[in-house]
Amino acid sequence: MAELNYSSYLKTDVLLSLQRTQVPETADRTVVLAEHFFIVAHQSCELWLKQTVADLSLARDLLSSTGRSADGVDTSVELLQRAAELLRVLHEQVLVLERLPLRHFVQFRPYLGTASGAQSQQFMVLGGLLGDGGEEGELYRAFEASADRRGCTVADVCRLGIASGGLHRVAEALLDVGNGYWRWKVAHLGLMSKMVGGQQGTGGTSGEEFLMRRITLPFPELRRLRGALHTQELAASPA
Ligand code: HEM
Repeated sequence: MAELNYSSYLKTDVLLSLQRTQVPETADRTVVLAEHFFIVAHQSCELWLKQTVADLSLARDLLSSTGRSADGVDTSVELLQRAAELLRVLHEQVLVLERLPLRHFVQFRPYLGTASGAQSQQFMVLGGLLGDGGEEGELYRAFEASADRRGCTVADVCRLGIASGGLHRVAEALLDVGNGYWRWKVAHLGLMSKMVGGQQGTGGTSGEEFLMRRITLPFPELRRLRGALHTQELAASPA
């Protein structure tokens, strides 16, 4: 078997052949390069998303598995914290596209046809894990199940805080992931609005208005239960 080297291990020949621009070969080089930049940013997002979705799926499985070992909870915290960091990277990938000159985008956008980020399968899976549109997702259900197996509720975990051990750290990490996802959506709306204003999206939606409606904070129940501590504390404290 041939000795592995950098390019044979990472398949860089295949990877670097995947940035196929759609503008005609006769187009200005600055436009071709701008479309190349657009493709690289989107492909990078899909790669980081692959890792994010895999990390969050494993965290969900560890939380919902029947075992009660602390290991499962500790590992799920590590995975959630890594996913939160990856969402920060994904946020950066959106910000970098703000350096796409509008005059170049105007020239290659017609060649995108009806292709749209809204068709990203991996983003749909991410939405199912985190919950979308005010609904709880698979991760929150797994967290509830994990608390239940330890004989408590999410409300107990919030009330006990650090005294509830690993589950408290899971709750904190879930919110870091949720806020990272929300930040990505807000940055994406800002980018989209800067680049196409009130125009329709290539996927056929109203664009700005559609994306604004899609921005919600994941884990609403966890936020509500934590917020309720403020009033409970007041009610419990001596007059
Ligand atoms: C100049 C850059 C971008 C523009 C103008 C833009 C525009 C849009 C628009 C208008 C939509 C609404 C659907 C439609 O009608 O097409 C959308 C959705 C979406 N885009 Fe982008 N986008 C940009 C960059 C990106 C990047 C870098 C990603 C990362 C992969 C991305 C991922 C998505 C996703 C996941 C949705 C669905 C969002 C949701 O359902 O909440 N977009 N985009």
